[in-house]
Amino acid sequence: MSNRIIKRLLALPERSFFLFGPRGVGKSTWLKQVLPEACFFDLLDASLYLELSQDPHKLEAMTGNIPAASWVVIDEIQKIPSLLDEVHRLMENRQWRFALCGSSARKLRRAGTNLLGGRALTRELDAFSFAELDQSFDLEHSLQWGNIPWVQLDRNNAADILNSYVNTYIKEEIKEEGVVRKLQPFLRFLGIAGQLNSQVVNAQSISRDAAVPRSTVDTYFSILVDTLLGSFLHAYRPSAKIREQTHPKFYWFDPGVARAAAGLLFDPVDRIWQGTALETLIYHELKTYNHTRNRNRGIYFYRTITGSEVDFVIETQKKRPASPPHVICLEVKLAQKWDRRWEQPIRSLKGSKKLIVDRMVGIYTGERSYNFDGFDVLPVEEFLRQLHQGKIF
Ligand SMILES: Nc1ncnc2c1ncn2[C@@H]1O[C@H](COP(=O)(O)OP(=O)(O)OP(=O)(O)O)[C@@H](O)[C@H]1O
Ligand SMILES: [Mg+2]
Repeated sequence: MSNRIIKRLLALPERSFFLFGPRGVGKSTWLKQVLPEACFFDLLDASLYLELSQDPHKLEAMTGNIPAASWVVIDEIQKIPSLLDEVHRLMENRQWRFALCGSSARKLRRAGTNLLGGRALTRELDAFSFAELDQSFDLEHSLQWGNIPWVQLDRNNAADILNSYVNTYIKEEIKEEGVVRKLQPFLRFLGIAGQLNSQVVNAQSISRDAAVPRSTVDTYFSILVDTLLGSFLHAYRPSAKIREQTHPKFYWFDPGVARAAAGLLFDPVDRIWQGTALETLIYHELKTYNHTRNRNRGIYFYRTITGSEVDFVIETQKKRPASPPHVICLEVKLAQKWDRRWEQPIRSLKGSKKLIVDRMVGIYTGERSYNFDGFDVLPVEEFLRQLHQGKIF
């Protein structure tokens, strides 16, 4: 791939905002792209960091006499959380708009800041999307190595890049978090969490395998979530009455990063791994679409009473006093041929009175699209095209 800048789906908000996202997904590049005229402060700059951490008030003088509504960008804001008080003041007194960028909301929150008490929106950036890569999207490569920019821009060196990505992450995010005092148990956890990508989390058994207390496992997961390396997908519960609570699934934000965490970069990947990579990729695209197009729908998985699963349930209309919620259901399969038995969990959900299934979609790695008695079966790329065209939800 050439050196050209890939246009991102994320639109510049009109008001001040926080921009969060994992390391290296293109946050700084995007900010420079959409705010070329802004006054730019990068707190990675050591002398700037020193000056502003000693005296946050200097921010106003350093910005200069720019008119109201002008944009001010502060990159790596988590390095000086106390700067947010000053930002708050300048938003009120000077009416400047701020873009505040960081790879972790954790340090800001831990520092006791209130993220400007709702004065700023929150935006997220993630690895490249199918819709951004466009012609250069390569499903096979994305399943193996994921979509972070460094990997996509230098595809032949994916394994080495991901290896140093995870090591850098560990070094920068974890050691500096201060929460992880011992590295070895965290590394054991990381390996296990990598292997468990896309699976239901059983903290008890992870605690046993990693030989760390249960509460530590929870802390470790919260670090992954706060640094946006992964997120929990919760089980859908259309009625709150349901007794037993299903554990959530954990998804890494990118299949390549999951593979690196699992320590499998230099091993060939098997079909099972590729299947979870495909789910990870689909989830990534669902989240990206949901966020960049401001759909803000709830995304879940579903477990039927008999224990079979629906990979993704998207709630397109909430439950109302007089009507059950509306959902669309997706089943993801790494397979060249569609097996009609895979429709069963979704079809049984459609029979339920608790919710209304507006659309049933199977996503597979075959060539052809089908509609089996109301159930759409789509090749991965066709599904992604329809998703980003707004035809799925
Ligand atoms: N839209 C893009 N098109 C082409 N290359 C990109 C794009 N976005 C990012 N890159 C490349 O990916 C790398 C990482 O991007 P960038 O530094 O912007 O990420 P970041 O999210 O700010 O990372 P960090 O959290 O480490 O600050 C850079 O080398 C950049 O050139
Ligand atoms: Mg950056």
